[in-house]
Amino acid sequence: MTPPKLQAPRGTYDVLPEQAPARLGLESVARRVLEGAGYERIETPAFEATELFSRGVGASTDIVQKEMYTFTDAGNRSLTLRPEGTAPICRAYVEHGLHTRPQPVKLWYLGSFFRYERAQAGRFRQFWQVGAETIGADDPAVDAESIALLWTVLTELGVGGIELRLGSLGTPATRADYRGRLAAYLRAHSEQLSPEVVARIDSNPLRAFDADDPGTQEVMAGAPLLMDALAAEDAEHFAEVRARLDVAGIAYRLDPTLVRGLDYYARTVFEFTSGELGAQSAVGGGGRYDGLVEQLGGPPTPACGWAAGVERILLSADHRPLPREVCDLYVAGVGVHAFALAAEARRAGLNVQLELAGRSRKGQRKQAERLGAVHVALVEPDGALVLVDSQSGEHVSVAGPTAAVAQILKGRHL
Ligand code: HAM
Repeated sequence: MTPPKLQAPRGTYDVLPEQAPARLGLESVARRVLEGAGYERIETPAFEATELFSRGVGASTDIVQKEMYTFTDAGNRSLTLRPEGTAPICRAYVEHGLHTRPQPVKLWYLGSFFRYERAQAGRFRQFWQVGAETIGADDPAVDAESIALLWTVLTELGVGGIELRLGSLGTPATRADYRGRLAAYLRAHSEQLSPEVVARIDSNPLRAFDADDPGTQEVMAGAPLLMDALAAEDAEHFAEVRARLDVAGIAYRLDPTLVRGLDYYARTVFEFTSGELGAQSAVGGGGRYDGLVEQLGGPPTPACGWAAGVERILLSADHRPLPREVCDLYVAGVGVHAFALAAEARRAGLNVQLELAGRSRKGQRKQAERLGAVHVALVEPDGALVLVDSQSGEHVSVAGPTAAVAQILKGRHL
């Protein structure tokens, strides 16, 4: 009996070779834009101590309460597959003393993240994010530049119908005060709210702005707004961020109810949505998280950043995959002489593909076409070597691998 076939776990997917060029194109645009602006690549582990996320992302968030892949390892440590990248990067910033480097430290990343969410179009349990974090500066230019860089990445990748929503959450003190007022307002209207919202009045009243049910939405239409309650300093900071977006020609919609699903934000928050996406329309988001580094044991450090979903970018972009690598030489024929030629040609920097399936002469001709090979080397078992120029069809006998490589390089430099 043949054993049953296995499938990739729900909410995950394979990247097949035909999808790889689009992803590579995305990475190369992100790298050019971000490294061009002075960001350096950082990579952190795929799993971390669970406490990093419960402390960093916030114990009452959906991510920490419902969505983490947490397990105990053989050494009895509680570990969690990273659901996001900001807390790990701040952990690394503290652990490696990056605050002693010239500030701000500007970092970017591309990697996979894990959340146990209901899988649907644009929502996965293992997904990829590209992100950028600027740690160690509170200048409003940091916020505006972060937003502008994400806008550039999305625009250059051809993400359609993007809209930027922008808000400010103020400082934790303003927020605490406001939360008290909002909670009182919610309690006064509790009979119209969904049970889920009522259950969270004390732990996370802000999430009520996110609720889908009509009763809650009606109540929220009249709720007090945080943006109207900002302290003078925070209102000034926010006005400075907006002035910079205005001069950069980046359009945004002020959204006083913008709630992000992570607790570490202070002051600026933002989210880009794409009209090309369905229900999961957030293509990228972020904001300022001035308290996070300190919360993780570092010095008081202002910071700001964002992350964007790779799958959602690819779903909403018009695809401009990178052109595939040119095949300079296809070595038809098998045996040690063929192998020696491939090895020498690769040492010379040529892109070489070997015949690996023992094709007939006719099959080799087809294969050369499929590969778009610029040259084909016909190698006999005794080492006799004929080089074919695919374009002209010209056949030339050459003395050996060195002569063949020289001939190809000559043609390349013409
Ligand atoms: P986030 O809003 O949770 O923020 O995620 C950022 C983006 O990742 C989302 O806009 C979405 O495109 C994508 N994303 C999130 N969850 C999924 C999923 N289950 N499937 C597919 N895509 C998903 C953060 O993660 C923050 N760390 C961003 C940040 C960086 N804030 C400051 N610095």
